[in-house]
Amino acid sequence: MNAPWKSGSAGTRDPFSAYICDDLSLDVVRSVCDDMGWAQEKANKGGLRNAVQSLSVAASPQILLVDLSESGDPINDINSLAEVCEPGTMVIAMGQVNDVRLYRDLMMSGLHDYLLKPISSDMLRDAISHAQTALNAPRIDDGAADKPHVSVAVIGTRGGVGASTIASSLAWIYSERMGQLTGFLDLDVHFGTGALALDLEPGRGLADAIDNPGRIDGLFIERAMIKGNEKLSILSAESPIGSPILSDGSAFYQLQEEFKAAFENTVIDLPRGMLIAYPHLLNEVNMIVIVCEMSLASARDAIRLLAWFRSNAPQCQVLVVANKVQNAATEVSRKDFETSIERPLDLVLPFDSKSTVQAARAGKALVEGAKSSKVATGIVSMVDMIKDATVVETGAEAEGKDGKKKKSSMLGGLGSMLSKKK
Ligand SMILES: Nc1ncnc2c1ncn2[C@@H]1O[C@H](COP(=O)(O)OP(=O)(O)OP(=O)(O)O)[C@@H](O)[C@H]1O
Ligand SMILES: [Mg+2]
Repeated sequence: MNAPWKSGSAGTRDPFSAYICDDLSLDVVRSVCDDMGWAQEKANKGGLRNAVQSLSVAASPQILLVDLSESGDPINDINSLAEVCEPGTMVIAMGQVNDVRLYRDLMMSGLHDYLLKPISSDMLRDAISHAQTALNAPRIDDGAADKPHVSVAVIGTRGGVGASTIASSLAWIYSERMGQLTGFLDLDVHFGTGALALDLEPGRGLADAIDNPGRIDGLFIERAMIKGNEKLSILSAESPIGSPILSDGSAFYQLQEEFKAAFENTVIDLPRGMLIAYPHLLNEVNMIVIVCEMSLASARDAIRLLAWFRSNAPQCQVLVVANKVQNAATEVSRKDFETSIERPLDLVLPFDSKSTVQAARAGKALVEGAKSSKVATGIVSMVDMIKDATVVETGAEAEGKDGKKKKSSMLGGLGSMLSKKK
């Protein structure tokens, strides 16, 4: 469904046409046509249905503006439009419904932008110039779009359990050791340490994306992201403490879509509070790593998070990792912890302040700054667990020597445990 509208050769087509329902918006569109040197007749009266009729017998323009106001089923109508629209057309929609789910579904249908009515000339000019830029922009790596994308969200049950340490290390392993294009999205907008851990300035790319979700595309993320190494791009911010996040969540959805197109892997440092405000954040994720400590509070919140993921992100595989574990001094024993969360821990990482201090002082990810430590080798083994789980999830199961499909032991164990529970 997306494919027909991916930027391609525009040839000698008309630069623009529009199909608008109401006179007020039509006036705005015609005045912008004047500014752009386009004939006013390019802005037609009539909404999406007229666009479908006209385009089924005429060549598609480079940029098409359609009004969804009179459409009872915008997604279905947009899909009909896709059938008559030629490849390479940038479609901008406008409408009066302000709903993040509709926005998300429209974007998934291949739309370039959605403008909320009433529209202003500035808003429309911006959207058009943005579409023009996107028409000519090369993607970071078109090849990455064809490979199965792995998106890992790392979430701590409590503050300070080491979720960010693990997230930055995973991003480092994917990019530096495995040589895969990796996008690291640090959603701790005010207090994130993704860039700091690698001795980099965070930039304000993430804050810009949140403020201007309509601008997010391949070119935007290429400019807004900072480089951690040749294959690692980081999107983060260090927003002022007095600036709350003002977003309906569309920016995060749009970012994940662009990451999926540009990178082989996405690693998200996902503060648990963000899940409450933006539960749809996990829609594009296929692996959740829950990082916990061996405490009562952490067990309670691991239970709650696991239950929430089961109902709200059933497509995600889940790994539960205990970090900073000091066998002699845990508030809750491993056995009690596992009993209370009703599943085994997938990985236990020891408390090792010597290694974390060493890596922090060197400005490196933990897996790089203290390579041979137990905690670093543990995080490396996590990558294999993620690979096993996500391979099974995408259905491309690896075959064993005997030609039989190889089952991930972790998933097998988890599966049987869940069914016993049921
Ligand atoms: N295995 C470990 N042993 C000792 N210290 C660790 C370990 N893992 C992480 N740390 C340290 O714990 C501190 C908190 O880590 P980190 O910032 O990764 O946690 P977090 O869960 O992301 O915290 P926040 O809730 O603030 O986001 C850091 O100083 C880090 O170096
Ligand atoms: Mg953190």
